[in-house]
Amino acid sequence: MLGPVLVSEKEITAQVAALGERITEDYAGRAPLLIGVLKGAFMFMADLARAVALPLEVDFMAISSYGAATKTSGIVRIVKDLDADLTGRHVLIVEDIVDSGLTLSYLRKGLLARGPASLEVCALLVKTGLQRAELDLRYVGFQIPPDFVVGYGLDVAERYRNLPDIRLLEPAPPAAGGASGAS
Ligand code: IMP
Ligand code: MG
Repeated sequence: MLGPVLVSEKEITAQVAALGERITEDYAGRAPLLIGVLKGAFMFMADLARAVALPLEVDFMAISSYGAATKTSGIVRIVKDLDADLTGRHVLIVEDIVDSGLTLSYLRKGLLARGPASLEVCALLVKTGLQRAELDLRYVGFQIPPDFVVGYGLDVAERYRNLPDIRLLEPAPPAAGGASGAS
């Protein structure tokens, strides 16, 4: 069940513009390679890329860590690998959300082994207090509470990715008559 808006479209727009400006300054004179982590980062990537005033390139990779559940499993699988060669590139990983950090630490290790000149992370959302791995996040859009959220690319069981803002997902109320449904 959809809950209230946690981060509005307006707040996202402003923050993406600010991140874009920082990236433009930090990578001045270079052509960074933005790597979007599918599917969740597709919308953020599209907006962020337009907010960076540099001759950048984009590539995508798909990683599966969740299935349809809303709790992290720790199991990470590459579903689609990159097309680009990372050797000597200034790589910026564009992530939708960092929860346990398992996905990101796995990604970072794998990409570092491919010889980039630099490797940084831009995460739209970071959940506070849940990271099990030591994470070095250069750019963060918003710190949010450790609740499940959807919208702006983020899904639950593939739904709600098209919402323009980020909303809390609330558990469905228990069925009437005391029957206990699946949690
Ligand atoms: P982590 O490995 O626990 O950091 O999980 C990161 C990935 O899990 C993200 O890239 C998302 O695909 C997914 N994820 C984590 N939290 C949420 C959420 O609140 N809503 C939707 N997807 C989430
Ligand atoms: Mg993701």
